[in-house]
Amino acid sequence: MLPTLSTRISQLQPSPTVALNTKAKELADLGHKIVNFSVGEPDFPTPEPIVQAGIKALQEGKTRYGGAGGGLPLRKAIVGKLLKDNQLTYTPDQIVVGIGAKEILFHLNLALLNPGDEVLIPAPYWVSYTEHVIAAGATPVVMPMPKDHKSPRLTPAMIEPFVTPKTKAIVITSPSNPGGFVIPPDEMKVLGEYLAQKNWWVISDEIYEYMSFDGPSISIATLVPAIRERFILVNGFSKGFAMTGWRVGYMAGPKEVADIVRTLQTQSSTCLPPFVEEGALEALRHGRELMADKMLILRQRRDLAVAILQEFPELDMLPPNGAFYIFIDLRKVLAKSALYANDNSLDFSKKLLETYHVAMVPGEAFGTPGFIRLSYAVHENTLKEGLKRLGDALVAIGGTRR
Ligand SMILES: Cc1ncc(COP(=O)(O)O)c(C=O)c1O
Repeated sequence: MLPTLSTRISQLQPSPTVALNTKAKELADLGHKIVNFSVGEPDFPTPEPIVQAGIKALQEGKTRYGGAGGGLPLRKAIVGKLLKDNQLTYTPDQIVVGIGAKEILFHLNLALLNPGDEVLIPAPYWVSYTEHVIAAGATPVVMPMPKDHKSPRLTPAMIEPFVTPKTKAIVITSPSNPGGFVIPPDEMKVLGEYLAQKNWWVISDEIYEYMSFDGPSISIATLVPAIRERFILVNGFSKGFAMTGWRVGYMAGPKEVADIVRTLQTQSSTCLPPFVEEGALEALRHGRELMADKMLILRQRRDLAVAILQEFPELDMLPPNGAFYIFIDLRKVLAKSALYANDNSLDFSKKLLETYHVAMVPGEAFGTPGFIRLSYAVHENTLKEGLKRLGDALVAIGGTRR
């Protein structure tokens, strides 16, 4: 008999997006033409100057351990970015760079939480938030979105019923995954003013910051400086610079928090590879110009996807004004079929993959059944083909097409 495993870690769910991807790959290996709308990464290559900066660094021998929490040049460049883009002032010792925003968030949860603490997470949420809280021995408290999912989406009145004396932190994600929506500045300000009165950590995941198509995405701390003391900004290079495989993310926050997260990193991943840091530095220097045309392409794909989805009168969606996702409300169509009672989008997504060969992540993965997430970071022709198949699957269960 094996010795027992960790009870805390055994509660974690494997990432459902990774599981779906694996199934889609298996079907593709069997020769099926799979349309994969499940991936959370841009389909663009990393811009060439960034790649070259990494190669040059390797050739120059930047292959040894780097500084814990990121080298000073990179942390200084991040300080510059936060001032320029977000009008937020930090010093380099308040920045910790890690192996993707995911590692930063994982370490942050371990660093901030104690057993019994509660973390408020608005649904639909990115799959890892709840699991990170559980891994830290604390309790995720999921706050469902309003039934009609229309604006405003996160108000003090929605949060208040979930507040207890154990509430320790809240997570805000704008632009959001899987929602694909941006909290408008007026709503964000109201939220910030409410949070300024609470004694919680405010964790703001701004990884899709550059993908806001109908107006700027403004950090809650820029709008409400009063929360700065307890505010922790998390961002990364994966999405905005098409650098998912490079694994670079960072946090900016109070020095005490940066110190403890850095200490944790010295005992886990040690540091970011120094040649990766050089690519990241180049991304901060020129990445936005290098990616500008790609942002326009994403916006065009968003418009195309919305136009096609509007051919189905029963479909609704969260306002898709950011990131590269549309969170589609299938509830009216699912209600027409006994097979998918109780907003069962999980079974619908299985059918969609197995019969129509389209991979999309069901709302259950994000704490919001009855929905399905479209990632439109794919070629236009793939988008058209996949949405046609989704339409066929909906019509087959009683959905109507205009
Ligand atoms: C909202 C959100 N935060 C964080 C991450 C993690 O990004 P990375 O670890 O690649 O920096 C993702 C990735 O999908 C995400 O969607």
